[in-house]
Formats: sequence, C-alpha cells, structure tokens
Amino acid sequence: MPQSRFLELAAARRSIRKFKSARVEREKLDLCLEAARLAPSACNAQPFRFIVLDEPAVKEKFCAAAFRGAYAVTKFAAAAPVIVAVVSDTGKLSAWFGNQVQDTNFRLMDIGIAAEHFVLAAAEQGLGTCWLGWFSARGAAKTLGLGTGKKTEVLLAVGYPDENPAPRTRKKIKEFASYNKL
Ligand SMILES: Cc1cc2nc3c(=O)[nH]c(=O)nc-3n(C[C@H](O)[C@H](O)[C@H](O)COP(=O)(O)O)c2cc1C
Repeated sequence: MPQSRFLELAAARRSIRKFKSARVEREKLDLCLEAARLAPSACNAQPFRFIVLDEPAVKEKFCAAAFRGAYAVTKFAAAAPVIVAVVSDTGKLSAWFGNQVQDTNFRLMDIGIAAEHFVLAAAEQGLGTCWLGWFSARGAAKTLGLGTGKKTEVLLAVGYPDENPAPRTRKKIKEFASYNKL
C-alpha cells in the first residue's frame, strides 16, 4: 500500500475514555469545528449544530442530565474537559426527501461525516475523543434548551488522553469490500 499520512492519522486515533484535566485550547476546538464545517452533506444541507461545552459549570450540569440512570455507564465522559453535543436539524428538506424517496437517513450520514471530521482533526492535534451514543437525549435536550425539530444525535468527549489503549480489531479488507462483485 502507498504511504499515507491520512492512514497514519486514522490508525493512530483511538476512543479515549480517560482524560487529563488540562483545559483544551479554544484554537484547537475551532480547528476541529472548521474540519466539521468542511464536511460534505446531502444537498449541502449541513443539518447540524455543534454545541461545545467547555465551561465547567455548564458541562457539569449537562453531564448530570445526560448520563443519569441507565446512562450512568457513560459517566466516564463527564471527566472530559469538553463535551460536544452534535445536534441535528430534523426539519431539513433533504432529510425528509432521503427518508421518503430513498429510504436513507441522509441527516445521520451528514452528522456522522461532520463529527468524524471533527474527531480526526482532534486526533491530529494530540487530542483524544470518544463518540458517545449512549446518553439521555431527553436530558440533553432539556439542558441545551432544544426546541422541536432539534435532536442531540451524538456526543463527543474531548480532552488530552490519559490512557493509551491498544487498537481494537477491525475486519480485513476482503471481509467488507470487493471489486466488481458482491
Ligand atoms: C456512533 C458511535 C457511538 C458510540 N457510542 C459509544 C458510547 O456510548 N460509549 C462508549 O464508550 N463508546 C462509544 N463509541 C466508541 C466505540 O465503542 C469505538 O469507536 C469502537 O469500539 C472502536 O474503538 P476505537 O474507536 O478505539 O477504534 C461509539 C462510537 C460510535 C462511532
């Protein structure tokens, strides 16, 4: 395989669940947001809002609501100095069209791409992240004051890593990809 700085970055990224308490510089967060901004989206709808919680009191209140009850297993993320709530705009026409005609959730695709751009930009700057799908969307909506048509689809915990986890296993290329046939 040819040399690739992108592959080096993708291979070095890990889900980080232990963070140093050091604050994350706004310039670095802004760079990650710029990476998310550049992401492609269906019909260029950009149906997302990234709400960056880096003010300790604001973040703590959010975490108390998002990681309560059955979601307490995700509490490790409350120790991250930054939580990013990735909020979707469920009212976008492209999402409706995708669901109705194509039976494809373009909104979630768009959010996934933008969030992973954010995550990889973070990794490039030495930041650790963890995608979080297991949290109370209701608690998140309440603390963020989301109105109808807005939903927190995923959270990203962000901070300087305080662990160095081994890589998780992945399928071999031939197990998920093929040329010219199924
Ligand atoms: C959409 C999505 C949701 C996830 N939700 C959680 C979560 O709620 N809690 C958690 O600890 N990890 C979560 N993860 C992280 C995965 O467990 C992790 O990416 C996977 O095990 C591969 O490990 P790696 O990221 O270190 O390569 C999530 C990842 C994705 C992409």
